[in-house]
Amino acid sequence: MSARYQAVRGTRDILPEEIGRWHRLEAAARSTFERYGFREIRTPILETTELFARSVGGSTDIVRKEMFTLQAGDESVTMRPENTASVVRAFVEHNLHRTVGAGFPERLYYVGPMFRYERPQKGRQRQFHQIGAEVLGAPEPLCDAETIEMLWALLEGVGIRAKELRLNSVGDAACRGVFRDRLKAFLEPRLADLCEDCNRRYAENPLRVFDCKVEKDRAILESAPTVLDALCEGCATHFSEVRRRLDGYGIPYVVDARMVRGLDYYERTVFEVVSSGLGAQNALLGGGRYDGLVEELGGPRLPGFGFALGMERLLLVMPEEPGDRVATDVLLVGLGAPGFEASVSMARRLRAAGLSVTMPLAERPLGAQLKRADKLGARFAVFVGKDEIEKDRYGFKDLATGEQLELPEGAIAERVAAAKGTQR
Ligand code: HAM
Repeated sequence: MSARYQAVRGTRDILPEEIGRWHRLEAAARSTFERYGFREIRTPILETTELFARSVGGSTDIVRKEMFTLQAGDESVTMRPENTASVVRAFVEHNLHRTVGAGFPERLYYVGPMFRYERPQKGRQRQFHQIGAEVLGAPEPLCDAETIEMLWALLEGVGIRAKELRLNSVGDAACRGVFRDRLKAFLEPRLADLCEDCNRRYAENPLRVFDCKVEKDRAILESAPTVLDALCEGCATHFSEVRRRLDGYGIPYVVDARMVRGLDYYERTVFEVVSSGLGAQNALLGGGRYDGLVEELGGPRLPGFGFALGMERLLLVMPEEPGDRVATDVLLVGLGAPGFEASVSMARRLRAAGLSVTMPLAERPLGAQLKRADKLGARFAVFVGKDEIEKDRYGFKDLATGEQLELPEGAIAERVAAAKGTQR
């Protein structure tokens, strides 16, 4: 008995037809980030469960409800729900702070899958992919602004037009304490009207009430005090400097005093970029400053700043480009048995010359081969028959325009390269 299976709920296959877009986004991110001095880091998907509880926070939705945690022997490990904690863990574990000097932070970026046990819907999966960047060791507001400017360059570069940058400051540990007291005073008389989760949040970590999705609660929270109003002088100055720098770069933003983000490690600047093309899950990316995290995870007192963008969400609003289809340069069409045999060796030579070449693995009728060319998205067909081999003149057809020439084998690679606008 055979059986058929489907991809696990909330996960999906990325098929060859879509992969060109993924490659383009990744390549744009790599080249943009590298121009700003970032280097790639790859950390494991599995981390100690405790790492996320400590950094993302034990009372956040991510840690409470969304982690894929498994018991491996006597260890509890979790498939990373995000990558900031892992990057900071690696930074501390490998003493990367040794190379950080005043004004010269460590700049790291990553690309890869993350896992959250959430209810799947448009723009929300259980396995999704992030491109992210982290700067470790820079307290300066310029770090925040420059990293956002880099991100902006990436978004513009891949053609994301409908986007809005939302910015806020959640203060540091000291002004957060002041805010917590004000918030508790506001919440206390309203507890009976708030959901059970918010009652728990009130007791454990009041700031997390802003994660609540219940309509009635959200309406109540509309009139809650904002953390922005509770900033100490240092945090207020930092925030206005970030804004001044962004203004200097000409990057538009709105201040959203109610945005606190769903992770506990943030201090001072937090931000999101939302896109109108996305529906309910409209955050393309999110990030912020986390000045206490390196120390919390056993390192020195060094600040951090970063962001991560959701690749699936970004791809939903990224415009198509003609080059997105990964195409084959040449289909070799063998005519008859001698033609087929000759095409086998010609394929090898053309591939060695750098062309991408496809051909059937058995002699096939001409019509069947040309039909395939269309499916494969091949740009050119080269006809290889007995006469052609004898004269070293091959039919070379542009499958988009239908234009056909005759060329010696030695001219094929150059011709294809010229058509692609590249030098070989
Ligand atoms: P986050 O806001 O939890 O932040 O996630 C960042 C982005 O990942 C979101 O804006 C969204 O585009 C995407 N994302 C999150 N969950 C899902 C999902 N279930 N399905 C599809 N896409 C999703 C972080 O992860 C922080 N580590 C960002 C950061 C880096 N902060 C500082 N450094």
